[in-house]
Amino acid sequence: MVRYAVLLLLPAMSATAVAQPGALDRLRAMQATPAASRAAIAQGKQAAFFCVNCHGEDGNSHIPEVPSLAGQNPAYLVEQMRKFGSGERRDQFMQGLIKVLKDEERAQIALYYGAGKPQPGTANAALAARGKGKFEQICAACHGPQAHGSDTIPRLAGQKVAYLEISITRYRNRSGERNDPLMAAATAKLSKNEISALANYLASLN
Ligand code: HEC
Ligand code: HEC
Repeated sequence: MVRYAVLLLLPAMSATAVAQPGALDRLRAMQATPAASRAAIAQGKQAAFFCVNCHGEDGNSHIPEVPSLAGQNPAYLVEQMRKFGSGERRDQFMQGLIKVLKDEERAQIALYYGAGKPQPGTANAALAARGKGKFEQICAACHGPQAHGSDTIPRLAGQKVAYLEISITRYRNRSGERNDPLMAAATAKLSKNEISALANYLASLN
């Protein structure tokens, strides 16, 4: 855990270095009072008019490879939008789409989806049972015992199985779409079957 504590400082330091605190600052201001938060959520719903085609009307996706955003931690969502915008996270479609959003819209959309109610995902019960032990052993320390994450660590509970499998495999393979030193270390020794079991376990949580 001491080693992880040191690693946890790295993303914060690099974010300062590229000096792009815009959307996160706006998010913090919107979160400061219930009234500001309510107003931002209403504006976020409008700004997300196009996003709902894939991520679902209420943020619960019905497409296996598209992540649900309902109940996701807003600061995490803002950070992922920043990464798509800068090209640190690669997905041709999302990169193009996010670039045109203003910082204010990114913060509003993150709050809107974050306030959504996540629906339990669909999972294979036998595989899910096999993933529980590994999750508790390797992942729960950061993602939380119920996989709800925290301010900057993503919620995984109820997420789509296919999206989870793809994402975990990308971190493990360091294939370039998503680079994160913590996740690369946590997934380095996982087999394909273990990744599938973990994904089904996470999808089964809510
Ligand atoms: C055509 C379908 C489509 C549309 C429309 C779309 N997205 Fe996405 N989005 C995706 C896919 C697919 C991914 C997963 C990309 C990957 O594998 O890394 C994604 C990922 C994301 C993520 C990362 C979530 C996470 O858990 O890390 C965020 C945030 C996001 N989209 C926000 C938006 C916003 C905001 C809009 C509207 C402006 C939008 N998306 C519109 C398909 C879409
Ligand atoms: C040391 C802390 C840490 C550990 C341990 C850890 N994670 Fe993560 N995880 C993170 C962070 C930080 C991110 C966000 C990285 C980024 O920006 O791409 C993340 C992102 C993810 C994502 C992407 C979520 C999304 O919505 O796109 C998945 C899936 C994931 N982790 C699964 C796991 C699994 C499964 C394990 C155990 C095998 C695990 N994590 C262990 C810190 C951790």
